[in-house]
Amino acid sequence: MQLTLTRPDDWHLHLRDGAALAAVLPHTAERFARAIVMPNLKPPVRTVADAAAYRARILAALPPGLAFEPLMTLYLTDHTTPEEIAAARASGFVHAVKYYPAGATTHAEAGVTAVQRAYPAIEAMQELGVPLLVHGEVTDPEVDVFDREAVFIERVLMPLRLRFPRLKLVLEHITTREGVEFVRSAPGPTAGTLTVHHLLLNRNALFRGGLRPHHYCLPVLKREPHRLALVEAATSGDPRFFLGTDSAPHAHTDKESACGCAGIYTAHAAIELYAEVFEQAGALDRLEAFASFHGPDFYGLPRNSARITLTREPWRVPAAYDLGHGRRLIPLRAGETVAWRLGA
Ligand code: DOR
Ligand code: ZN
Repeated sequence: MQLTLTRPDDWHLHLRDGAALAAVLPHTAERFARAIVMPNLKPPVRTVADAAAYRARILAALPPGLAFEPLMTLYLTDHTTPEEIAAARASGFVHAVKYYPAGATTHAEAGVTAVQRAYPAIEAMQELGVPLLVHGEVTDPEVDVFDREAVFIERVLMPLRLRFPRLKLVLEHITTREGVEFVRSAPGPTAGTLTVHHLLLNRNALFRGGLRPHHYCLPVLKREPHRLALVEAATSGDPRFFLGTDSAPHAHTDKESACGCAGIYTAHAAIELYAEVFEQAGALDRLEAFASFHGPDFYGLPRNSARITLTREPWRVPAAYDLGHGRRLIPLRAGETVAWRLGA
């Protein structure tokens, strides 16, 4: 069986920098025409000048023959100015701003300490139509890790949504029923991205036969009823939900550690794994809109015209990829099979 789709885009991606960037970029560029590139480098991509330099490094790392457009983002801080937002809008290559609550995840130390501090920048984003991409988890250590998304929606996102009713808002990597419900019921232009790992796995995957660091990400995997709500949202045809892998490469030594990093690497088989999810849900006919139409429509960008083909032919994922400098990258499904293959 074959499936031909408009070339998809990845609306949430970590590309890193240096040798890691060169190692992972081909996986994404083989599958996707464009990707929203996360700004959580160290130091973060805070200004349009930072984003221009990072964009040039990404394009320089792109293997010849692959067409790929990185859609850059800025990292929101307590000090982001409305002038920087205006410069971002004018740049033509910065397409969104990412809001990490300070300390919420990998390289989020420089994030926003209290959302009110970022209001001047967010106001400018609303006026200029620049989307705000949200890592939706509270950092309050009193709140149970599995409840952090739901509590964030109640404490931070609802008030933000009401204060800036015209702001384009994307709740990134939704992991709960509450997240789906928020996107569906929020007033104003609201969307949500769904990762393939949150569609495929529930929290049992963290503990199957022992501790599984390569299934650890943030927001952490949730219970099965939440996963089912995500699959329902992704396959429903609702244009407010679209593809964002959150593929997040880390060296195996940083994952297999007494204090392992959060992040699951899926870029090597991303669209193929989404095809598995849609096939299992009996909704393969809705994969193209989710992967290729809803994202550009929300961002106000043209849909892609090129096409890709997926073939129903299992292949084995390598045990590891080379991340450069002697580091290994363990991908999702390492040493196991994926049901769909890219190409005819
Ligand atoms: O699991 C994650 N990894 N979640 C994030 O929010 C960040 C990402 C990363 O950069 O590694
Ligand atoms: Zn991310």
